[in-house]
Amino acid sequence: MRSKLQWLPRLARIPGMQSRPRKNIEDLEGYTPGEQPEGTDLIKLNTNENPYPPSPRVLAAVRRETASSLRLYPDPVARELRDLAAATYRVRPENVMAGNGSDELLSILMRCYVDEGDCVAYPVPTYTLYETLIAIQGGRSLVFPYPDDFTIPSALHSQSSRVTILCNPNAPSGTLAPLSEIARLARSVSGLLIVDEAYVDFADSDESAIALVKQFPNLVVLRTFSKAFSLAGMRVGLAFGAEEVVRNMVKVKDSYNLCRLSLAAASAALHDMDWMRRNVRRIQRTRETLVRGLRKLGFMVHASQANFVMAQLNGDSLRWLHDGLRERGILVRFFDTPELRSMIRVTVGRPREVQALLRETESLLQGHRLRQRAS
Ligand SMILES: Cc1ncc(COP(=O)(O)O)c(C=O)c1O
Repeated sequence: MRSKLQWLPRLARIPGMQSRPRKNIEDLEGYTPGEQPEGTDLIKLNTNENPYPPSPRVLAAVRRETASSLRLYPDPVARELRDLAAATYRVRPENVMAGNGSDELLSILMRCYVDEGDCVAYPVPTYTLYETLIAIQGGRSLVFPYPDDFTIPSALHSQSSRVTILCNPNAPSGTLAPLSEIARLARSVSGLLIVDEAYVDFADSDESAIALVKQFPNLVVLRTFSKAFSLAGMRVGLAFGAEEVVRNMVKVKDSYNLCRLSLAAASAALHDMDWMRRNVRRIQRTRETLVRGLRKLGFMVHASQANFVMAQLNGDSLRWLHDGLRERGILVRFFDTPELRSMIRVTVGRPREVQALLRETESLLQGHRLRQRAS
């Protein structure tokens, strides 16, 4: 009798038979990044970019790099950047890994830690990319709704998922959990705890979970150069974790995951922390104006510790506001999900951009209220 396996080569020759992706990829909706319009003069307050340019030292370093060795591969383990980051954030170089944006580091962590069917726990609403990366692995998202004040849900402490993720400050709320709470979480979860600190530089305090890495071998902290360092276009992120965690992450990354220009830019940015801090202070001041202005217009706004604010009017969808602002040349982020459609997320731009946003929002609100009264 012929075994079933003998039929396989013949099946493989049927055109298209072997070309289907994995079932979970076919079923996946995919992550939708915020709109990136090309070459327009829209006011862009939708993707939490920094409105100010990076340090002139960054631009000089990139120019120098362009003029030198682009024909050669970059350093596969980003030694210079890693050592500088270790010195800047007071850890050992073995505790640091550089990635092609913190998105790549998140993806690497999922590939390292999440098998098919594994649970990954995180509070919601939060950065929606987590769900996509977990689904790519065939993992399961175990979500814990935030309470109204956006403190860490207590049930997150008592679950036993393979991985737990905390975005801190959280996106889109902008709220920040104190370090003591993160230490408590790292102590109570049984698996890996990822703390995504993409926005932490904008917080009023300079607390960071990086300080806890030495104490908790199950903790990984992610940082990015995309926000406070004004380098979203360069795609650089950093992971801080126990030596063993970093060693495993390095096995999974692309061989040359950061290009020479990105490496040069990120190192130069770390050499000019003052520039970053100055930009952050400007954004913190404008954030205050934005929060005050939106509250004056009747919005509920959480006390943001990030470079964006989340504004809610009442329970109704704010699509009309998003669309109206877009027609008037201002992009903000609207998430069309049941939990988030009554909110808009606004990036803190330059003062004049924020003034334009407040002015146009007020005018759209007046029109909306008149229409509501008439109907
Ligand atoms: C919470 C959060 N984490 C990570 C990222 C990704 O940052 P990067 O540009 O470093 O990939 C973003 C980007 O908007 C974010 O909002």
